[in-house]
Amino acid sequence: MQTQTQQSVILRARQLTKTYRMGREDLKVLSGVDLNVKAGEWLCILGASGSGKSTLLHLLGGLDTPDLDSGDVKFQDVSLHTLTQSKRDHFRNKHVGFVFQFYHLLPELNVVENTMITTLVGHSMFGLAAHLDELRPRVITLLSELGLGDRLNHTPNELSGGERQRVAIARAMVNEPELLLADEPTGNLDKNTGLRILDLFQKMHDNGQTIVMVTHDQTVADRADRVLHLESGKLVK
Ligand SMILES: Nc1ncnc2c1ncn2[C@@H]1O[C@H](COP(=O)(O)OP(=O)(O)OP(=O)(O)O)[C@@H](O)[C@H]1O
Ligand SMILES: [Mg+2]
Repeated sequence: MQTQTQQSVILRARQLTKTYRMGREDLKVLSGVDLNVKAGEWLCILGASGSGKSTLLHLLGGLDTPDLDSGDVKFQDVSLHTLTQSKRDHFRNKHVGFVFQFYHLLPELNVVENTMITTLVGHSMFGLAAHLDELRPRVITLLSELGLGDRLNHTPNELSGGERQRVAIARAMVNEPELLLADEPTGNLDKNTGLRILDLFQKMHDNGQTIVMVTHDQTVADRADRVLHLESGKLVK
């Protein structure tokens, strides 16, 4: 068993700054965020609504870029924001799973198809059918483990909120990512459903999954190994 100090750092953020431009006004949301995420840890970032949690998580996962010449995110040894957009998308698909604040499931696809959607990147039309055939049994096993085995053919509007969130988690986990980023994963759920979702994260964490979660909810943060606070655009202990 490795101790915290011996664990390798898989994600490093240095001096991340993010400013949104609104007409003539600049809205500076992040102003110099430094962060190290260690392999296997469950880190929670706690902050008020509007403090910049989603913004930060999007930068950490390479979904958005920081201000020009201002900060960097390194995943293992790769500097995310020096990659071209398509290389960054490819890299993210391979290494990072993202559970979005508002699920972002595609309404016309069923549970299985929504789970597989991110794995389609990089496949030609020619190889796609074989890829899907190969993947389908693993996706069904994963969905069954998440308690969705009898909802496979449902579309998102035929699911409860907790079930939708579990599909979003399955989609994030299907590529077996080294890093799982979760944006307020219990924010839209009732208390008991939220607790069950947190138990799922606990199980993944017990299996060695590295998790960075953002939330405004102290009871969610209490489940993590380590908690940092996002305040005035910076991370503090
Ligand atoms: N694309 C954008 N353009 C302009 N302003 C934005 C944009 N996205 C977010 N903001 C603003 O930046 C601030 C931080 O937004 P963000 O979504 O990161 O907050 P949050 O901490 O995730 O909030 P919540 O807990 O409500 O989800 C907010 O004040 C928001 O209005
Ligand atoms: Mg948010």
